Amino acid sequence: MLDADVRSARAEKMARIHFANVSKHFGSTAVISRLELEVRDREFMVLVGPSGCGKTTALRMIAGLEEISDGELRIGERVVNDVAPKDRDVAMVFQSYALYPHMSVYENIAFGLRIRGLAPGEVDARVREAANVLGLANLLERKPKALSGGQRQRVALGRAIVRQPAVFLFDEPLSNLDAELRVQMRAELARLQQKLATTTVYVTHDQVEAMTLGHRIAVLAPTGGDDRPNLQQIGAPLEVYHRPRNAFVARFIGNPPMNLLEVRVAADGRHLEGPGFRGAAPARFAAGLAARAGRGVLLGIRPEDVAEAAADPPPGSVRARGTVDIAETVGAEVIVHARLGERRLIARFKAQRLPRLGEPVELDLDFDAIHLFDAESELRLEEH
Ligand SMILES: Nc1ncnc2c1ncn2[C@@H]1O[C@H](COP(=O)(O)OP(=O)(O)OP(=O)(O)O)[C@@H](O)[C@H]1O
Ligand SMILES: [Mg+2]
Repeated sequence: MLDADVRSARAEKMARIHFANVSKHFGSTAVISRLELEVRDREFMVLVGPSGCGKTTALRMIAGLEEISDGELRIGERVVNDVAPKDRDVAMVFQSYALYPHMSVYENIAFGLRIRGLAPGEVDARVREAANVLGLANLLERKPKALSGGQRQRVALGRAIVRQPAVFLFDEPLSNLDAELRVQMRAELARLQQKLATTTVYVTHDQVEAMTLGHRIAVLAPTGGDDRPNLQQIGAPLEVYHRPRNAFVARFIGNPPMNLLEVRVAADGRHLEGPGFRGAAPARFAAGLAARAGRGVLLGIRPEDVAEAAADPPPGSVRARGTVDIAETVGAEVIVHARLGERRLIARFKAQRLPRLGEPVELDLDFDAIHLFDAESELRLEEH
């Protein structure tokens, strides 16, 4: 098919996905609680969260493989709670995709179309188009056992693409690949997404995957014992990174994770006193801190905002003193775990040398870049 034909065929497939207050119980356990989430038409939405927080369950609900206990799920304008999987026009790629070992690549990709009764000419056109897009055109006669892991993964993607569904669902599709292949397939997926422009929900554990592929990312947490809503934050990757709504998101997004320290708000409602440092908080937090004078708050600072002390400290930075606990080199950078009193602080140094264990260390904390959270609710303090 010509690109123009592909585009017009897809123009009819507008598909937004809307979880309207959706819950899912297994027995008396709520796995998904009051999920309110809209995936826009043609959006690439990434779901991230710790193991067991319900990511796969959410995908399976969209696919129709899991019943919805409460609320409404819509695809387009249609409520699909009771629509059979085959009538939903979604294609799912699982983490453990099984190819048919006795069939060629061509047959593996064509199989689903044949059982749907598509005309042989149309099957052939779609398989060849997908094979071109995925760089499989020269491998169509091979059997799966004669393919690399990445090539097999592409065949699994091919099976989903030829369906030309309204929605793609991916459940950690790259997690079985080695590091190098993951990077390569990640780039291919990003290209594919641009080309196909199909509404996609993508589940991953991998932060880099989430940040590079997602138009927006949704951070989920387990419901816990008391059925708390899973959804913690939804937003563009950098928005979630730079303005996490609460301490859970702050801890979860970023690697190494954001440092979170309990600090005391001085009586003046302006200075923060932590283990081994004291500094004035940025003015944007003034209102929130004035209300908390003399009490504790959680201070968040990313490792890249903690530098080895400079002779000439940058404006807005606050000096902290501690000792080196662990130092790991990652090429251009050294990740230093410093001990400040009872607390640990992770810093990313430009690699000049590898600090020694137990060595005293001075750090410049970039106070302009700090995050503050309420000590009890762990919600981000209001900013102006
Ligand atoms: N059929 C089932 N019966 C009972 N509990 C289930 C069932 N399926 C899933 N669960 C539970 O629901 C929770 C969420 O599972 P789910 O597979 O959605 O998590 P996940 O976020 O995809 O995790 P992972 O990152 O490990 O894949 C888990 O605690 C799991 O044990
Ligand atoms: Mg899962």
